[in-house]
This record gives sequence, structure tokens and C-alpha cells, in this order.
Amino acid sequence: MSLTADTMEVSGRPVLSASKMAGAVIEATGLHKVYQAAGGAETHALRGVSLRVEQGEFAAIMGPSGSGKSTLMHILGCLDTPTSGTYRIVGREVGDLDETELAEVRRETIGFVFQAFNLLPRATVLRNVTLPMLYMRVSADERADRAAEALRAVALDEALWTHRSNELSGGQMQRVAIARALVNDPSLIMADEPTGNLDTATGEAVMALFQRLNDEGRTIVLITHEPNIAAFARRTIRIQDGLIAEDRLNGGGHS
Ligand SMILES: Nc1ncnc2c1ncn2[C@@H]1O[C@H](COP(=O)(O)OP(=O)(O)OP(=O)(O)O)[C@@H](O)[C@H]1O
Ligand SMILES: [Mg+2]
Repeated sequence: MSLTADTMEVSGRPVLSASKMAGAVIEATGLHKVYQAAGGAETHALRGVSLRVEQGEFAAIMGPSGSGKSTLMHILGCLDTPTSGTYRIVGREVGDLDETELAEVRRETIGFVFQAFNLLPRATVLRNVTLPMLYMRVSADERADRAAEALRAVALDEALWTHRSNELSGGQMQRVAIARALVNDPSLIMADEPTGNLDTATGEAVMALFQRLNDEGRTIVLITHEPNIAAFARRTIRIQDGLIAEDRLNGGGHS
């Protein structure tokens, strides 16, 4: 799949497109996160997480409720900052970036997929998928082309493209959300329980789609509670009480 040309512009500098980049996408060292409640109570959600994910990996993050999975993903996705520790995404030291640069990294490096889809309910499918490109220097024609390409990549029936997203089934909504995550050609796709609101068969169909995107060279990190969903990944990282309790390659699975 070629969602964009071989090069794209970031801050006016040509850079290699996501699929051509090599090396670590995620390099986190000693991440701690302490949440401070209004009354003064503290929650130590991450207690020293170090994690390296290479370009092209497909990793599932598992662990009990409250163990720190979403907290970790928010930090890795540059949506939140750690209390201490360092984090590099595609080689860039996140602690050194200002708000504008962080927004740029999120927009151009990461595609997010959430359990609740987070689509604009009254906007059409095409509009939802086009939105992430609004702040990029991309012409209206190219935006439309790229949205169509992403929707084809997730195999969403073209008859639905002009429907409002609230007229779709859960599985169709998640395909739209994945297409939206793909339009900026991210090197990393992060998903927090993307199948949590789907029945088993639809969830596995969505996972087959992630697997194909991974086969095409994209790095995928997803959180799930379900072993049958984690089995689609090649690597399982288990979080417990804010620490990595286990990190292993999935045996006998997808290759
Ligand atoms: N914004 C916040 N403010 C205060 N505490 C928080 C905040 N977000 C999370 N926490 C706390 O941090 C801990 C880790 O939460 P987190 O959301 O990362 O867990 P999780 O592993 O994603 O759980 P789940 O499987 O239920 O989604 C929990 O004790 C939670 O209550
Ligand atoms: Mg969570």
C-alpha cells in the first residue's frame, strides 16, 4: 500500500516515509507516572517502565484493569508526559519538543484508534477520514484521494462513504476510525482496546486488518484484555502494578 509518495514533508524538510524508516520507533526508559488527585492523594500508575519497539513490530499490551496500560499508551502516543523517565519516538527526544512540535509528531507519526471509535457522529465517513489532513499542506483533491485510498485499505464498502458515521455498525465504525488513523501515513498505529465494543467475529476481522497493515510494514501497538485478540500480535507485553511483568514473543502465531 502506498498512502503517500515516497517522501513527505515535515517542517519543510523531506523525510523518509513511515514504511521506509528503519530502527526503533519507541524507546522508553524508566518511565514513571504519578497522578495527583485534588485531595492530595497520589496514584503511582507507572513505576519504571522501559520499552523498545522496533519498526515493523506488532505488540499487544495486556494486564489487569488499573495496571497502567492506558497511561503508558498516552505517554507513548505523546498525549501525556511522564513524571520522570525519557522517551524517544522515531529517534526524537519527546522531552525536548514544545506543544507545536508534539502536535506535529502526533499528527504525522502516530495513528490512534480507540475503543469508542471517537468519530464525529453526524459527519460523513469521508469527512471523518479527511479531518486529520486539514492541518497539513495537502490540496483538497489529494485529501479526497488519500481518504479514498485509506477507506479502500480497510475494505469499507464504497456505498457507505457518504453515510453519516452514526448510521454504521460498530465494525464499520471501527474500519472508518482505522482509515482515519491511516491517512497521514503514520509509522506507528496505537490502539486502546480497539475491539472492546465489537463482537468476537467482528473483532477478529478488525484484527485481521491490523495484521495486514503490519504485514505492509506498519508498527502496531495495541491494548487488549482478550487473549484471542492478543494472539494476532507477535509480541505480548504484560503490565502489572505499573511495571512490565512479562515481555515475550508469541509462539506459533502469525509470522
Ligand atoms: N487522569 C487520572 N488521574 C488520576 N488517576 C488516574 C488517571 N488516569 C488513570 N489514573 C489511575 O492510574 C492507574 C492506571 O490507570 P490506567 O487507565 O492506565 O489503567 P488501565 O490498565 O488502562 O486500566 P483499564 O484496563 O481499566 O483500562 C489507575 O489506578 C487509575 O485509577
Ligand atoms: Mg485503559
